[in-house]
Amino acid sequence: MEFKTLSNGVKMPMTGFGTWDLRGRECVSCVQKAIACGYRLIDTAIMYDNEEAVGRAVRTCSTDRGELFVTTKVNGPYNSYDKTAKAVDASLVRMGLDYIDFILVHEPYSNFREMYRALEDAYREGKVRAVGVSNLVRRNYDSLLKTCKIVPMVNQVESHVYYPQTGYQKYLASKGTVMESWAPFTEGRRRIFEEPVLKEIASAHGVTAGQTALRYLVQNGIVVIPRTSREERMKENIDLYSFVLSKEEMDKIASLDEGRSLFGWYD
Ligand SMILES: NC(=O)c1ccc[n+]([C@@H]2O[C@H](COP(=O)([O-])OP(=O)(O)OC[C@H]3O[C@@H](n4cnc5c(N)ncnc54)[C@H](OP(=O)(O)O)[C@@H]3O)[C@@H](O)[C@H]2O)c1
Repeated sequence: MEFKTLSNGVKMPMTGFGTWDLRGRECVSCVQKAIACGYRLIDTAIMYDNEEAVGRAVRTCSTDRGELFVTTKVNGPYNSYDKTAKAVDASLVRMGLDYIDFILVHEPYSNFREMYRALEDAYREGKVRAVGVSNLVRRNYDSLLKTCKIVPMVNQVESHVYYPQTGYQKYLASKGTVMESWAPFTEGRRRIFEEPVLKEIASAHGVTAGQTALRYLVQNGIVVIPRTSREERMKENIDLYSFVLSKEEMDKIASLDEGRSLFGWYD
């Protein structure tokens, strides 16, 4: 596993496990299996309605809490300073944890700057180890930079081979913010596992198209959090560090970039 060092020195794993749409016992079991496979970053959110299950898996697994990196996100119903401050405490209680590793504002809601200020205070109080944002386009991000006290440590955005946002990644990095990809497999919107460019490069390395798609992002300095409920795929998706893509291969994959969101979130 490789790590990104955040601006405050905290180490964030480059590959994590997404939990959107996993709930209850299935979620507990998947997160436990993922941790057993070697995942250390687990990505949840208040919106996913599975913080309790994620917390249970984290508390009952055999890996030390200090080795794990638990991410959660505060969403629209907490669209004020006070509501977000309370939401942090409620997430800690739901997960049964003493601290959260990384917390972010899920989207640029009307009061997202105030929500972020509440996260900064939670950070100062030691309730969270890192703070960041999600789905901030450059306009929102730049406006936050004018008011925030702590530059967001991470911005979690849509990123996959069809819309990697590598230019934005470089801009964020220049300001001290790590880019994290959501939907690295396009959440099923494209037949990414059948993509000829990826398949050809994958076969040259003896890996899968999926691993090649993830490796492309990681090699561009982007953290990935693929989600799967299948154990064999958990193992596959985390096995990204035994091969390196050449410049020519990176350029070929870059040619898949369509330059626009597949989700229409940023239009
Ligand atoms: N911040 C945000 O606004 C935001 C938005 C969306 C997502 N997220 C986070 O990002 C995470 C990842 O995104 P996502 O879950 O939307 O989608 P994704 O990871 O792009 O795709 C998940 C889909 O890919 C399949 N899959 C996974 N590994 C595979 C493999 N090796 N071979 C073939 N199929 C495979 C899974 O099916 P199986 O389960 O059947 O394997 C599942 O249907 C989420 O879980 C969530 O934590 C954040």
